[in-house]
Amino acid sequence: MPRTIASIVDGRQRDDAPGGRMTSTNPARTDEAVAEVLLGDAQTFEDACRAARAAQPGWAAVPAPVRGKVIAQVGRLVEENKEALSRLVTQEVGKPYAESLGEVQEIIDTCDFFIGEGRRLYGQTVPSEMPDKQLFTFRVPVGVAAIITAGNFPVAVPSWYLVPAILCGNAVVWKPAEYSPALGDALARLFHAGGVPGGVLNVVQAEGAATFEGLERALEQGLVDKVGFTGSSAVGSKIGELCGRHLQNPCLELGGKNPLVVMDDADLDLAVEGALFSGFGTAGQRCTSLGVAVVHEDVHDEFVSRLDRAAREAPIGDPAEDVLYGPMLHERFAERFEEWLGLIEDHHTVLGSSATGRIGSDQPREGFVGDPEAGLFYHPTIVTGVTKEDDLYTTETFGPIVPVTRFRTFDEAIALANDHGYGLSSAIYTTNPLHALRFRERVTAGMVSVNNSTSGAEAHLPFGGNGKSGNGSRQSGIWVLDQFTRWQSMNWDYAGKLQKAQMDVVGIEAVKDFKLEERAF
Ligand code: UN1
Repeated sequence: MPRTIASIVDGRQRDDAPGGRMTSTNPARTDEAVAEVLLGDAQTFEDACRAARAAQPGWAAVPAPVRGKVIAQVGRLVEENKEALSRLVTQEVGKPYAESLGEVQEIIDTCDFFIGEGRRLYGQTVPSEMPDKQLFTFRVPVGVAAIITAGNFPVAVPSWYLVPAILCGNAVVWKPAEYSPALGDALARLFHAGGVPGGVLNVVQAEGAATFEGLERALEQGLVDKVGFTGSSAVGSKIGELCGRHLQNPCLELGGKNPLVVMDDADLDLAVEGALFSGFGTAGQRCTSLGVAVVHEDVHDEFVSRLDRAAREAPIGDPAEDVLYGPMLHERFAERFEEWLGLIEDHHTVLGSSATGRIGSDQPREGFVGDPEAGLFYHPTIVTGVTKEDDLYTTETFGPIVPVTRFRTFDEAIALANDHGYGLSSAIYTTNPLHALRFRERVTAGMVSVNNSTSGAEAHLPFGGNGKSGNGSRQSGIWVLDQFTRWQSMNWDYAGKLQKAQMDVVGIEAVKDFKLEERAF
């Protein structure tokens, strides 16, 4: 019997299912149920926001170092449950187990970083322009944060929001992805067990439309002060629009078309290794996955032939085994991927495997690990001959597909790296430092890798994008503090009389018309 899970509001699991029921399944074995889910609706979301609103002032009153201690406890519990949580990641979204362990490690790293922040959360002392007056700044929690996350990083990316939000003294309403509800439930339980009060972290299991309606209502009633969203650019812009109407600035982490540029002076083996991992790791379903390989024409054919060989030889299949990638995250991703495969045009050449599309007895793949018919497995696909005019260049294709385009001059490479309008991650492979530095300067992406793949950001570097990839917000490290706190400034005048800023300021005169005497030095 799979477990039954439901929303957790104010520490209590709901036993109603106003949004209906849903079964979460294992994408590598679609007949295996992972959890039965009682879905909430817009009202559940609103209730959760109300519970968060009620709990937040009490949590903000807990000294930040004590909140940091709670985050430390959460981190240790995640560490102690690392294997169990990683197994659930593999079971519910089909990541290879090694990647699942990495994903869970990212939560631990995030907790480790923010433990110390509980003892910092520094403000500043600032000199005043007048005597007997002092100026200060304080970081103040924002209030209630509504966090809506995707299922490709079902626990790591949520932790990038939850950990700093809670550490900073906010209360959270978290809506995990519909296709990773058991993981949402498991992570929330680890937070609660670590000491985070029920009202401070509420979890709403609901569908997208109900969540949007709930968010709309909560914003109208002043129950939400900050929205964090990781997902598609299309939904991100709707959320941005909604938040804008309420004068709110959400934290948006959206899609990507991450370019991987291979210069003619690149170490090609290294570039191929990076392209293989970032193009096909997680079945290409990271927002940092390689979106377009931009290859110098002198090394194009050699790069393509090595990448083709590597993709053909890579083990693909059962994510419990040692594979490059497993299934698509969910049926919905598989369907959309099939649509994107339809963007391949006659002037393209398709490489990378024995067929294109779903792997099965009619379209087998040699060396497949496990039973391909059991899950949502797709052939790796390399598409060469892609130009800027093609839909494959302009569209984010979330799946195991690597479009390849070629260039002659550095300016062309930069244009190809930028002109699709996304700006999340990017990479350049080169042995010439000048190329690396010029690429860093001119690429519009928020993240740049040199001789490293487009994936693999570390948990304490700013993470975020520009253009269609986000609204400029940054997560992780010290940078995310600006998402979950607001600066409050204070001035304290102890002169015992009113000193008017800008008006009562004492000046010190300069000697007017001073000139150096002309003499030999
Ligand atoms: C995402 O795909 O939303 O850099 C996050 C990486 C991971 C995080 C990806 N550390 O690929």
